[in-house]
Parts: sequence; structure tokens; C-alpha cells
Amino acid sequence: MTKALTSSEIRARFLDFFAKRGHAILPSASLVPKNDPSVLFNTAGMQPLVPYLMGESHPSGKRLASAQKCVRTGDIDEVGDNRHLTFFEMLGNWSLGDYFKEDAIAWSYEFLTSADEGLGLDPVRLYVTVFEGDEDASRDMEAVEIWKQYIPEHRIYFLPKKNNWWSPGDNGPCGPDTEMFYDIAGTLGDMTHEEFVAADDAGKVVEIWNDVFMEYEKKEGQVMGKLSQKNVDTGSGLERITMIVQGKTTVFETDVFAPVLAQIQDAAEKYDDQGARIIADHVRSALFLIADGVLPGSKDQGYILRRLIRRAVMRSRTLGLRAHFLADIAALFGELYKDAYPEALDVSIGASISHEEDKFTRTLEAGLKEFEKGTDPFILATTYGFPIELTEELAREKGIEIDRGAFDSQMKAHQDASRAGAEQKFKGGLANSSEQTTKLHTAHHLLLAALQEVVSPDIHQKGSNITDERLRIDFNFDRKLTAEELQKVEELVNEKIREDLTVTRREMPREEAEKLGAEMEFGTKYPDIVSVYMIHDEHDKIFSKEFCGGPHVTHTGLIGTFKIQKEEASSAGIRRIKATIA
Ligand code: SER
Repeated sequence: MTKALTSSEIRARFLDFFAKRGHAILPSASLVPKNDPSVLFNTAGMQPLVPYLMGESHPSGKRLASAQKCVRTGDIDEVGDNRHLTFFEMLGNWSLGDYFKEDAIAWSYEFLTSADEGLGLDPVRLYVTVFEGDEDASRDMEAVEIWKQYIPEHRIYFLPKKNNWWSPGDNGPCGPDTEMFYDIAGTLGDMTHEEFVAADDAGKVVEIWNDVFMEYEKKEGQVMGKLSQKNVDTGSGLERITMIVQGKTTVFETDVFAPVLAQIQDAAEKYDDQGARIIADHVRSALFLIADGVLPGSKDQGYILRRLIRRAVMRSRTLGLRAHFLADIAALFGELYKDAYPEALDVSIGASISHEEDKFTRTLEAGLKEFEKGTDPFILATTYGFPIELTEELAREKGIEIDRGAFDSQMKAHQDASRAGAEQKFKGGLANSSEQTTKLHTAHHLLLAALQEVVSPDIHQKGSNITDERLRIDFNFDRKLTAEELQKVEELVNEKIREDLTVTRREMPREEAEKLGAEMEFGTKYPDIVSVYMIHDEHDKIFSKEFCGGPHVTHTGLIGTFKIQKEEASSAGIRRIKATIA
């Protein structure tokens, strides 16, 4: 048997095949769309090409092809099974008002089946679906007629818009598509429509290529008529097609992942497939995101990157991998990808991943201390970012029972309450609004201490209010603060954030806290036992101490960048500051 093509060879063959047919080869665009704030990442090869599909002329001509880096995080919780990935490369060819169905279908078929120029797949294992038609567009008989030259008619199935229509979102170019499927085991033979649908549901056939005939436009979710030109937009996921070509049943057994999984298996104390796959997938995504300039942070792309790294860190602990092993994995991926993507070798990538790992490890450790004290799983999840699975695992080790039902309903209530706010903005339900509020709480303490240091030691808090978006503090002072004072206060807070001071909570009798000189809000009635939050460096030099119920971050470095938005009078002798973090 001849040796199966590698993923790099498949990528190269694809680009050569279309270059020979008059296509300009475009380098992959950055994962972060340049001029499109409506999406966080490129999720399809066509995304950077939307203006050209809409009619603008492309400097490289009317025939284009690329291997485009894509990130889709909608399925993040599914990663670990045999096929879901958060990062993938999409191979695609485009006609911008040039060739249409005849050539698109002929070339898809030829590339899939030709042993010399393409992938040499067995035509007998191919099945095809086409759009069945509705009020927006008629049944695609034209595609059927073309396909009949290559595939027996009884292997061509009609499916509705849900399956055979593609658009990047609610607005933009769209159209009916024809999709190619492959029988993984090669045992299925001829199938009726129902048998085909069942085989698809069971994962016995997998979609390997999609040709979209983009001649329509969508506005606000409605198909609104035709574009000025008839386009072709095709896409094939490189990892998935590699799995097919290499005769594997999961993408993780292909050359894209196998060396990495072997390295994880060698190093792990307690290996499990799912954990190792999650680590491999997430580190690969993190690598490409950082290579494209994203840094772990508290919002948008940075938030997703941080979430990917943190999930990988959690798993690396479960597998018993040593600290900073993830950076080694990133370096190995860098080697595997260096020819196609030289940016993947950037040494700062491993350092960024390790830095985020260290930060998260501190949070985890603080969370573990809370766990030892018996803190409720809901607080561990919302304040310390502990996934419930981790709390359950720790509890199992200690023989403690976790009430999963109670946790799920608390989380649901919590998510419902915050859905309208930050989550919507961060998309995909990934944001955790309480995390933002937690940071603002700690920033609030830093701000009060900074006002005392910069403006006057007699300043005390007279009121406060924190939302997902901002903090507000009222304090006694008899004049407007100068711009210079405000700037110094802001700088001092940011300096304390950069110093990554530790936040420690101590419970003590109220009198003891008063003796300690902890800040308290005048007029508030405190209980006999209070909790005091101290913000201090490693030599226990205290910057801030306040009575407070929390919640707070464990280290100020987690806060982000602090910014004063406004300073104004609140009432006689009381000033008010509003501030945000980013
Ligand atoms: N845009 C289509 C898809 O993502 C074809 O590339 O499936």
C-alpha cells in the first residue's frame, strides 16, 4: 500500500490543484478579522472575502483559493470527542462572478478522486446532497444534472435549507449548497434517502466538502434576492479530510495530532483520551491566536483565549502533567506547523501560555483553600472559576457528596440573571459576568487606598455601587479633584495591578478589625464576626485593608487595566468617581 498523504501534502495539493486552474493563492488572513467587529474570529475561509463576494473587485482577480485559519468556539464543550475542534484550517476555492456550478462541481469531484493530482478517494464511497428548494430558491436540478456525470443519481439526495443552504450569519452573501459525504468504513453501498440520513446521524458518513453557490443576499436573517454576481464559495476542513485520507476514525489519530498526543501520553501520570484531546486542541488554538496577536485578557478574543488556556491547565492537572508542560506542547505544534505558518514558532507564545498558567494556578490554589474550608460549589465556580467537574472530583477524593441538582439550578439562575449583560456582548455564552464584578470589587478597594495615598488620608467611603460594567465610589472630600490628582490615582491603581498583589480574606471579631484600622463604611451596621480583605505583597506589606463580604480576585494581576471615567459632586462634601476595567 502506498503511504497516505500527510496533512501538509493535502494542503499543498489542494493549493496546487487550484493554482493550475487559474486561482490566485491567498495567504491565510489573521484569525482576528480586520474590519469586521461583528465576529470575534474568522470562522470560515470566506469570511475575509465577504466584501468581494458582495461585488467589490479583488486585487488578485476572480479566482481565489486559500487554506484559512479558523476558530469556532461554539462547540467548545464538545471538544474531546472524535471530531470537534476549536481551531481548524479550511481549504477553499472561490469564484467571484466567474465560473459557476459546472466547474465548481467538476473540480471538487476531480480533486477528491484523482490519485495523481488530488486525494485519490474511492468514488464508490461518495454521496452528495443538494438543495431541495423552497420559496427563496428552486430545487437545484442544475447541480443534480452536473453531478449525474460523476455519481449515480440514486446517491444524490435532496435536503432542505437547514442542511443545504449556507450563510455566514444573518447578513451577507448566501446560497444553496451541495455537500459531499464519504463512507468512512467503506461498507455502506447504495442507500435510500432515509438510510443516508441515518448514516449521517450515526457518523458513518461524514461531510468532507461543501460547494456554496452564493448568488443571494441575506438581510436581518431573511433572504432578500440576488447579488450582482454569481459566486462560488467552497470549503473543506483540512483536519477532517486528513482523517478520511489517512483512514482514521478520529482527527486525533492523524498526523496533525498524533505526535502531540504521544508526548502527552508519555508525560502524563494519569492518562485519559478526553483530557489529552482537550489539551491538544486548546493549546493548538491558543498557539495560533497568540501568533495572531491575541493576548489572554478579560474580554472578547482575549477572554476566549484565556478560557482555552485555563481549560487546558485544568486538564493538565487532572492528567498529572508538570507545570509549563503546555508551553512544550505549543513548541511541538510550532515545529509541526512551521513550514505552513512560520509565525507558529514565535517563542513568546509558550511564555504567554505559561504566564497565564501561573496566574490561573494561583487562582486555583486560592480556590482549593476555599474548598478545604467547605465553600459551596457555586461560589467556587463563580468566584474562583472552578468547573463543577473539578469540585466533584475533589469532593470524591474526600468522600464528600456534592448536590449537583442544587448547583445546576443556582448556576442557571445566575446565568439567566447575567445573560442580558456581558454574556451577550462577549458572544457564545462564554463570559462570566460575576468574574467582571469580582474584579471591579477588588479594583474598588485599590481605588480607595490610592485616593487616601494620593489625595488625603482622611478620605473614607460613603457609598458604593458595582455593576458588570463599572464601579462607583462616593467619598468625603470638599473640592473637585484636579486632573493631575486623578491621573496619579489611576496610575497608582494600575501600578498595584501590575505588582500582582495578593488578596487575602481573614475572618475576625469586629473589634479586632476596627483596631487593625480596616476601612469600613460609615453608618453601615457590621456583624460581630466580619471578614477583612487585605491586599498585600509577598512581604505582607499591606496596601489596602477593608471590611467586605467580597467576592474578590485572588491576585490584583487578574484585574486588567483600570480607568477613571468620571469625577463629580455627589452631594455636599461628597465626591463620586466612576471607573471601569478593561
Ligand atoms: N463557507 C462554507 C462553509 O463554511 C463553504 O466554505 O461551509
